[in-house]
Amino acid sequence: MTTRLLFVCLGNICRSPSAENIMNHLLAQRGLQTKVSCDSAGTSSYHIGSCPDSRMTAAAKKRGISLVGRARQFTVEDFEQFDLILAMDDSNYRNILALDSSGQYAAKVKRMCDFCHDYPDQEVPDPYYGGTDGFDYVIGLLMDACDGLLQELEI
Ligand code: 4NP
Repeated sequence: MTTRLLFVCLGNICRSPSAENIMNHLLAQRGLQTKVSCDSAGTSSYHIGSCPDSRMTAAAKKRGISLVGRARQFTVEDFEQFDLILAMDDSNYRNILALDSSGQYAAKVKRMCDFCHDYPDQEVPDPYYGGTDGFDYVIGLLMDACDGLLQELEI
């Protein structure tokens, strides 16, 4: 059975598409593409249909990772469609859970930083209004978190 992962941030143009593409990169390196599928979404509608942010794309490229995909908004149907929903920060986490009125999907929703081994952060910082360093930092943090998540998945 394929494990279906959904990475979620605010705009779905910086952090969550990075997490999605980094995880796909790690899966390909390990020959595990058929075991895990990845998608990403934003809690907001701000950037629906947009490509990943060019600054984020440049930071990922430095690590040999291409960012592909178009932004979409998280919907309540995603609770059924995915096995695990990874929130980039606490605001994303609360906004996702707020859409689960019955509370029946709460166990599927996790914080991305809970899977970090090397980075001390509790949240993936929002790089949108900052400089280049912030984008580079997010890529490093997400590589750590994706690696940790992959170790925890029973595949
Ligand atoms: P993301 O970054 O949630 O990591 O995609 C952001 C993208 C856009 C905005 C904020 C954060 N914005 O305010 O438009």
